[in-house]
Amino acid sequence: MSSDQRVPIEGPTRVSPAAILRLDDFTLRFRGQTVATVNGISLSVSAGEILCVVGESGCGKSVTAMSIMGLLPKGASDVLSGDLSFMGKSYDLRRENLPSHLRGNQIAMIFQEPMTSLNPAFSVGDQIAESVLQHQGGTRAEALRRARDLLVKVGISAPDQRLKEFPYQLSGGMRQRVMIAIALANDPKLLIADEPTTALDVTIQAQILNLIDDLRRDTGMGTMMITHDLGVVAEIADSVAVMYGGEVVEYGPVREIFANPQHPYTIGLMSAMPRLDRPGGRLAIVPGSVPAIENMPSGCRFRTRCAFANETCTERPLPMAAGSGHRVACHFAPLEEHVMVQA
Ligand SMILES: Nc1ncnc2c1ncn2[C@@H]1O[C@H](COP(=O)(O)OP(=O)(O)OP(=O)(O)O)[C@@H](O)[C@H]1O
Ligand code: SF4
Ligand SMILES: [Mg+2]
Repeated sequence: MSSDQRVPIEGPTRVSPAAILRLDDFTLRFRGQTVATVNGISLSVSAGEILCVVGESGCGKSVTAMSIMGLLPKGASDVLSGDLSFMGKSYDLRRENLPSHLRGNQIAMIFQEPMTSLNPAFSVGDQIAESVLQHQGGTRAEALRRARDLLVKVGISAPDQRLKEFPYQLSGGMRQRVMIAIALANDPKLLIADEPTTALDVTIQAQILNLIDDLRRDTGMGTMMITHDLGVVAEIADSVAVMYGGEVVEYGPVREIFANPQHPYTIGLMSAMPRLDRPGGRLAIVPGSVPAIENMPSGCRFRTRCAFANETCTERPLPMAAGSGHRVACHFAPLEEHVMVQA
């Protein structure tokens, strides 16, 4: 598709009606700063879909996830724009968060280091049962039975023994399975996983990814997975949101993003791994570094690092449709044409 045939996407993401989660035009600025850390992000996750969010450290992946969960510390930031729609109900994030009864219930989150989320003073069984009791009520014996079932579901052997153990007695991979069991306690519609396998060795990492993949197939749960690792993306993602400097610069089905990356930043990230059939490796290093938020350039935030930048790039590029479900925010995408015109 040539650049003059592309059409700007009006407002938010185009999403299927089956979307469980939809975030539209989300902008957040931390207090004391003049530049928004997250700037006009739109994304969506449908039933059974795994959306991977990738981008360099500091690009706003966790802040976005925590904002969806309503977990950012109160008073530290202001939401300047953003609608969150979950299971068909919309919330204006400038004024409200997702209702707290949905958190840990319909929508659950797991983190990179499970030890920080598990309470060292309580047994595994007590912690899973607590999550069940909190949202479903019932007796403690029923909750413990459910906890046992969940341990089996997440592939933990000797579940009766594990129920009685404390987090320090478990390996890192086992702790992450327990966290997933807690997340699944109330059959969530959406799982947000913030680098859930980064702290694990490669074999355990693969097992946890397989588990998440199986769960979405079995339960239809949607997943938003934050990762630095393109191997993870290639293995598990249905769609990808590439973030840079607090913005989604490219978004689309995983095959399309790997086969036909159009944003210079995505192309840079992919350069170490341009093909879906050659997975492996973390994000390639794009020359230069992300400016501090206060020094973020106006217009295209990538322009201080982009080999193709020119004066046009002082204007902010809007997300444009670049194919089916594929959108890209660069004045000159697809780049081949720009390079040919310049040559
Ligand atoms: N409470 C806060 N006050 C001010 N700035 C913050 C706060 N929390 C996060 N930030 C800033 O927001 C930016 C985005 O942080 P975030 O944690 O979302 O990055 P990330 O993409 O998850 O990075 P990583 O890959 O390292 O986890 C960073 O520059 C960070 O310093
Ligand atoms: S808009 Fe300009 S600076 Fe930004 S990615 Fe495209 S070519 Fe580079
Ligand atoms: Mg993070």
